[in-house]
Amino acid sequence: MIALVCHGGCHDLMPPEDEKALSQKKLDEYGEIGFKMLETGANALDVVENVISLMEDDPMFDAGTGSFRNLNGIVEMDAMLMDSKQRCGAVQCIQNVRHPIKVARAVMEKTPHCILSGTGAVQFARSQGFPEYDPAQNNAGNDYGEAGDRKRMLCDIQYYRDVARGSDHVFSTVGVVALDDSGTLVAATSTGGIRMKMPGRVGDSAIPGAGTYCTDSVGLSATGEGEGIMKICLTHEIALTYAMKGDLAEACKAGISKGSAIDCICGVIALSRTGEISYAFNGVFMPVFHRKSDRKTRKSR
Ligand code: GLY
Repeated sequence: MIALVCHGGCHDLMPPEDEKALSQKKLDEYGEIGFKMLETGANALDVVENVISLMEDDPMFDAGTGSFRNLNGIVEMDAMLMDSKQRCGAVQCIQNVRHPIKVARAVMEKTPHCILSGTGAVQFARSQGFPEYDPAQNNAGNDYGEAGDRKRMLCDIQYYRDVARGSDHVFSTVGVVALDDSGTLVAATSTGGIRMKMPGRVGDSAIPGAGTYCTDSVGLSATGEGEGIMKICLTHEIALTYAMKGDLAEACKAGISKGSAIDCICGVIALSRTGEISYAFNGVFMPVFHRKSDRKTRKSR
C-alpha cells in the first residue's frame, strides 16, 4: 500500500473562485509528483521533503517563498517532519533559507536534537551548506500591514489582537503525510506563520503533537491558528483518540471540535498505516489532495 495526502492550508474567509481553483490545481500538481515518486519506489521521507519543497517555492502558499512577513517585514518560518519510528526534526523561527523543511530533515538526521530555533537554526543551516536566501524577495505582494499599525501593534496587545483578528484569516500553511511500500509513514508541515505576527513568534507547525505528529499507526499535519492548535495539542489528541477508538474520521472530527470550542480556526489531514485517509476543518475552505494504491511499486515487485 502507498498513499499520499496533502493540504494547502485552512481559510476562514472564502477566497475568490479563481484563487481557490488555482491553489487546488497547484496542490494537485505537487501531490501527483509526490504520488508518482511513491509509485516508483521512493521512500516516504524523500517524498514529503520534495512535495513540501515544491510548495515552499510557490508564493501561493504560506511557506518558504510565500511566507507572511512579521511586523518587522522579515520572514521567519517553522517546519517539521516526523516518521513512524518517531524520529523527528524541526526548525522554528528560521530566517533566510529557501527550504526550511530540508533544514528540519538535517536536524533529524545530523544532530542529537529535535528542534533548532532562531539564530541557532540559521547557523546550523549554513554549516550544512544551505545558502543564504531571502524568502521575501520574490513575494513583493506580501502585505504586512501599515507602518503606523505595525508600530502600535508591537507595544499595544489589545490593539494587536483587534487588528490581527480583524484581518483576513488565511492559514495557507502546507502539510503532507506519505506512506511508502515499506510501511513507513512520514508527516510534515511548513509555514511562514500568521499574518502580522510579532517577531520571534513560533506557531504550532514545528511543535511535535501540535501541528505535526506521527506514531507507528497514524501521521498527521494541521493548519490554522497556531495559538489555539498548540493549546489543544491537536495532532497528538487525534492520534490518541484514534489509538483508543480506531475510527480515524471520528478522531479528526472530534479534534477539530476541540478547536472550535476555543474559537480556533483549524484543519487537519491524517493517514493511517493501513492506508486510511481522513481530513477535517472548521474554516470555509481547505485544499486537499489524496491518492492511494495497493498496486505493487517498482521497488516491491
Ligand atoms: N498554523 C500555522 C501557524 O500558526 O503558524
